[in-house]
Amino acid sequence: MKLAKIKWSVMLGQGICTAFYEMIYFLVFSDVKNWYVLEMLNKIRLKIAQNLAEKSDFSVDETLKLFEVPKKQNQGHLSLPVFQWAKTLKKAPHQIASSLADEVRDQNLDELEAVESVAGFVNFTLKTSYLQSVLEEEIASPSDKQKIGWSQSNQGKTLAIDYSSPNVAKPMNIGHLRATVIGRAVYNLAKTQGYKVIGINHLGDWGVQFGKLAWAYQNWGAEYPFEEQPFDSLFKLYVRFHQEAEENEELNRLGSLEFKKLEDGDSTVTEIWKNFLEISLKEYDKLWKRLGVSFDLIQGESFYNDYLQDVEDRLSGKNLLVESEGAKVVELGEDVPPCLIRKSDGSSLYATRDLAGAIYRKEKLQADLNLYVVGMEQSLHFKQVFQVLEKLGYDWSSDCHHIAFGMYRFKEGKMSTRKGNVIFLKDILDKSVALVKEVIQEKNPELENKDKIAEQVGVGAIVFNDLINDRVRNVDFEWSKILDFEGSSGPYVQYCQVRCNSLIKKYGKEIPLSFVSEMTEEAENNLMFTLSLYPDVLSKAFNQFKPHYLAQYLVDLGRAFNHFYQKCRVLGGEESVEQSRMLLVSMTRDVLRSGLAVLNIESPEAM
Ligand code: ARG
Repeated sequence: MKLAKIKWSVMLGQGICTAFYEMIYFLVFSDVKNWYVLEMLNKIRLKIAQNLAEKSDFSVDETLKLFEVPKKQNQGHLSLPVFQWAKTLKKAPHQIASSLADEVRDQNLDELEAVESVAGFVNFTLKTSYLQSVLEEEIASPSDKQKIGWSQSNQGKTLAIDYSSPNVAKPMNIGHLRATVIGRAVYNLAKTQGYKVIGINHLGDWGVQFGKLAWAYQNWGAEYPFEEQPFDSLFKLYVRFHQEAEENEELNRLGSLEFKKLEDGDSTVTEIWKNFLEISLKEYDKLWKRLGVSFDLIQGESFYNDYLQDVEDRLSGKNLLVESEGAKVVELGEDVPPCLIRKSDGSSLYATRDLAGAIYRKEKLQADLNLYVVGMEQSLHFKQVFQVLEKLGYDWSSDCHHIAFGMYRFKEGKMSTRKGNVIFLKDILDKSVALVKEVIQEKNPELENKDKIAEQVGVGAIVFNDLINDRVRNVDFEWSKILDFEGSSGPYVQYCQVRCNSLIKKYGKEIPLSFVSEMTEEAENNLMFTLSLYPDVLSKAFNQFKPHYLAQYLVDLGRAFNHFYQKCRVLGGEESVEQSRMLLVSMTRDVLRSGLAVLNIESPEAM
């Protein structure tokens, strides 16, 4: 190991420190995509990494990526495993760790209380005063509490995200819940990282099924109460057509003819189709409102009709289109089936429209990142679409990502209780709200605004239960877990926030924006450290497009708060201690609230 020639700790004197780190960050990391932004504890991590880089051959970004938060509390706040250097340095991990610990200790960094080496790890304990100052700056001072922990690191960049995107005439099912809530959470996470975000609803509003539905409408429509129950009637028509077509092939042919008319712009069929759209959007709007979701653009599949020829021209311009049994396809890699671009009857496909959409989002919307929040069963589809883009020579194809997710599993089996009987999102939300209302009635019958709060908690519970699962896994749907007020649930986090809120109300005085005493209790320290991780959690959840890191964090923060509340007397006692503890309470409430808001979950005032 080289020895340091310059004492970093001297050079990095107080005043210039932040600007200097930012400059280094910009020079060194601006092209490191997956790394955290520079904030909060990253400053100290960077400082440690800088120190080590100066004294060894480790690169700064390599070291930065290794830091962990130790699982056990007595192992300090940050931990640096050294195992991966054992080979190059030809030394045992514990030797490396111990000499690194000595070196960092020698630097006497202002922020560190202790540096220890334990079995191949260097563990760092932060000074309480440092944690306090970090929290004051990052959590107490922002005037817009919604934006606590936000970063500007992607300013000037645009992100397009396709989410929810149900299929017209069909009720949203529980699978669309995932596409909606994961999508909206990633949308919000992108905002926390400084992106300009464009949320797109790629409504399934085109395809031969609309010819079928138009045929059914014209022939059977009068039998259904379209005036009173438009959406229900539409769905019944849809189901009936498919049932009857199983017996009668001719219906499918008639439906295709009707779709051809729609594609050719026939005014009668177009009017009918527009009516389907209107009826469906009205229905979906009710659910989107309940989930607090909106879109910047509603551009269904039909929106791309005028762009499909252009896609074909681009493909044939590059000699990528191949005739296959009368259809036009693009051949792809060995293990990927060809991507169908135009059927033999001349009609376009889902993939054609997605190609047009991707080009539109890149060229017209200027999206730097293009995300699709869609179930895992469409993985092959997106693989094909992205590969076609790559073949077209678009290097931005690597900026397109399929944010895939698993399915719901109910006790009785997969998606449905009985075969063909899908579980509708509306029914699930209604049931959840009704169950919460029962709990309120039993536990807190005096509560004001019961209906509003039951809606916030009932809907929040369903959303949270979805988001706390790693999206790529399947979700077990269990009411006992979803509504467990003490478990890892939405109601638990909402309740912690309410608890903080009641304390603040009870205190009734102005809470200072900085600590007026040193927080010496272990439970205080633990809560402070948990709070300080919030910005990192946001950036990690965004970088991996995985909101469950945030959901899990909010539960952990709730637990850290409850532990603190049990161990430390908050109200009463010495004034300066009371003020400092109230500052912790209000920071906790603000982080819980802003975190829930990122997950698109409301924070009730009382529960
Ligand atoms: N409408 C499709 C479905 O419900 C999802 C569309 C996803 N977005 C896309 N660009 N393909 O399965």
